[in-house]
Amino acid sequence: MLISAKWRDGLAALVRLLVPRVAGAGGGAPTLTLPRFAGEGIGTKAGKLRQSLPRPAGEDRWGQVALVGAGPGDPDLLTVAAVKALAAAEVVLYDALVGDGILDLANPKAERICVGKRSGRHSLPQGEINALIAFHARRGKRVVRLKGGDPMVFGRAGEEIEHLDSLGIPVRVVPGITAALGCAASTGLSLTRRGVSRAVTFVTAHGRDGERFEPDWARLADPQGTLAIYMGREQARAVGQGLTGAGLPANTPVLAVENGCRPDERRYWTTLGAMAEQGVAAGKGPTLLLVGEALRPRQVGAADALAGTADSIDLRAFGDFAQRLDHD
Ligand SMILES: C[S@@+](CC[C@H](N)C(=O)[O-])C[C@H]1O[C@@H](n2cnc3c(N)ncnc32)[C@H](O)[C@@H]1O
Repeated sequence: MLISAKWRDGLAALVRLLVPRVAGAGGGAPTLTLPRFAGEGIGTKAGKLRQSLPRPAGEDRWGQVALVGAGPGDPDLLTVAAVKALAAAEVVLYDALVGDGILDLANPKAERICVGKRSGRHSLPQGEINALIAFHARRGKRVVRLKGGDPMVFGRAGEEIEHLDSLGIPVRVVPGITAALGCAASTGLSLTRRGVSRAVTFVTAHGRDGERFEPDWARLADPQGTLAIYMGREQARAVGQGLTGAGLPANTPVLAVENGCRPDERRYWTTLGAMAEQGVAAGKGPTLLLVGEALRPRQVGAADALAGTADSIDLRAFGDFAQRLDHD
């Protein structure tokens, strides 16, 4: 029977909505329910575009793409939606920052492709990643693009969504715990504190493709705020200089968390003034800088325990002591 492209697309959309719910019923495999896809509605620009694109030969369905947040590293911090998406994936394109054990949750038959930096190799250019995602989706595959933390926070999700939208490929986003919130939890530090810190700012100290850029230090130097600085290890001295230059006190606490929420998490305490001179002594793992007065109770506790020094203290060494410190 011949059916028009318009009807075929409508039917395909209907099947996509129904099949995943049916697929998991009765079987042992987790059910993947697929809620809204950004830009998918029939009649939307993306929906119309999709109708006008040629289908890959022999394919009668379009793949779906989920941008999935893998959280900061601990598989226990994945959302249920992320675990379901991984279990149903046919292709997983993952970043190097994805923590150990998380890929083990993917469908064993899924094709796994690392698109991040690995063993001295550079990550793929963003344009190639976009093209790879689209290629597998257009083969009709269920594609998971797995990203460290949350895809929407310094994760280039915007560029990938825009690309898929332009091709009319349906995409949805599964959020993950971003590094700042993961590190706050693992260190027991509240990023806000009544009467002390009433704003949290997620900021990067890194320019596009390694370009140098000068953040607006005056805007960031809020004595009643907490800064969560992503990709800041290499720029730590410049951050210290910029923030003290814009008026934050040199004794403002700084905590650098390396490999947050992973078995090898390390914490390095310092102050803005010391960081301006020496940077931070963190190793090569992903490192988040937390800056602000809200951190002080734990910094003081750590310093007391080491007879007055507040620098480079690994709080793990204090075990229960760190846990007993009061914080809100
Ligand atoms: C490209 S950004 C990706 C951020 C990610 N999308 C998120 O929401 O956490 C990479 C930076 O995130 C921070 N980061 C990611 N995972 C981390 C972790 N487990 N511990 C500390 N910092 C982390 C580091 O600053 C790292 O340089």
